[in-house]
Amino acid sequence: MYRLSDRVCSIQESATMAISARAAAMKRAGEDVIAMAAGEPDFATPAHIAAAAKQAIDAGFTRYTPAAGTPELRAAWAEHIGKQRGITYRPDQIIITAGGKQAVWNILYALVNPGDEVIIPAPYWVSYPEQVRSVGGVPVILETTPEEEFKVTPEMLRRAITARTRLFILNSPCNPTGAVYTRDELMELAEVLVERQLLVLSDEVYDALVYEVPFTSIASLGEDIYRLTVIVAAMSKTYAMTGWRIGCAVGPAEIIAAAARIQSHSTSNPNSVAQYASLIALQSDQSTVEVMRQEFDRRRRYMVERLQAMPFITCTRPQGAFYAFPRIAETFGRTYHGERIEGSMGFCRLLLEHEKVAAVPGCEFGADAYMRLSYATSMENIQKALDRIERFLKQLD
Ligand SMILES: Cc1ncc(COP(=O)(O)O)c(C=O)c1O
Repeated sequence: MYRLSDRVCSIQESATMAISARAAAMKRAGEDVIAMAAGEPDFATPAHIAAAAKQAIDAGFTRYTPAAGTPELRAAWAEHIGKQRGITYRPDQIIITAGGKQAVWNILYALVNPGDEVIIPAPYWVSYPEQVRSVGGVPVILETTPEEEFKVTPEMLRRAITARTRLFILNSPCNPTGAVYTRDELMELAEVLVERQLLVLSDEVYDALVYEVPFTSIASLGEDIYRLTVIVAAMSKTYAMTGWRIGCAVGPAEIIAAAARIQSHSTSNPNSVAQYASLIALQSDQSTVEVMRQEFDRRRRYMVERLQAMPFITCTRPQGAFYAFPRIAETFGRTYHGERIEGSMGFCRLLLEHEKVAAVPGCEFGADAYMRLSYATSMENIQKALDRIERFLKQLD
């Protein structure tokens, strides 16, 4: 009845909405559903950060801020990100946004013309292709496999670059695979990017959550690649602040200024109270971050060990973030009490209906052979969910 824009018509609704809605309805009906689909820490925001927000409200820090964020937070976060990576950023090289998601969107809007190609490694975070399409760009998907630990090789990258390529999106640690690029691997990719003078959006929202390989930012690997990199970071995963909606983009001042112009006409500025709380989060003791990381690591080890011992499943060891990404394709075509499993969507639907475990089907991430299980939930839930998944798999014919 209403004519919607061509752009919005090119954007797909999330395939997992149906599963999430079904899981929520089952929970409301009193069923014992275990959610393994969460994309956020299960911890509460640390008390000192919450207290800072209360102070900000009481002090009347409740008005518009500059579009790119408060000068204090820009200065503090630019310094923090630079220090962690061994590089330097000035305050005019950072824009504060409503979460990492808006940072990615602002940068795409600032850089991509209609028809421009953006290279996205798969499995990918669900929003990249949709955001690229929403600004008129063309996602070019680079398939990776467990054999190369779900990482793009320099040869793959080189082959994918065309005259229309505008940007490469890199996500390390990766959602959904947990892949973390080593310094050497990033060096090789940086060489290709510098040679072709291709910009890279480096999504580093999980930078604090690495377990075996130390975190490296591609921006830190020399002056040439530094100039071609825009980092996206966020308070969300590091400080258990997903609902506060504070993220940032850091990179060349010209690109950041363009992103700030866009933001000034869209959301105006990120939430003032959350910006103040974020400033305090950065300036205070960081030990809560390490406590959360260690707990995620404990759950990760348990989960991967259990999954690797299950029939029909293979699982690479995730090195970062808080997801396991087991391969379930061997179950496809098999039956569960007479019902045939068709793809990751079918697998997750049956798992939810019969064993009441909510997982995200791999098709959502451009990788139908897999499912994503989050370990951002209690150890008790993880144990119970894995028992149920094992029971489910043992009943397949
Ligand atoms: C890879 C990746 N990038 C960006 C984001 C967005 O984070 P935020 O909640 O700060 O918008 C997420 C959130 O799930 C993510 O997984």
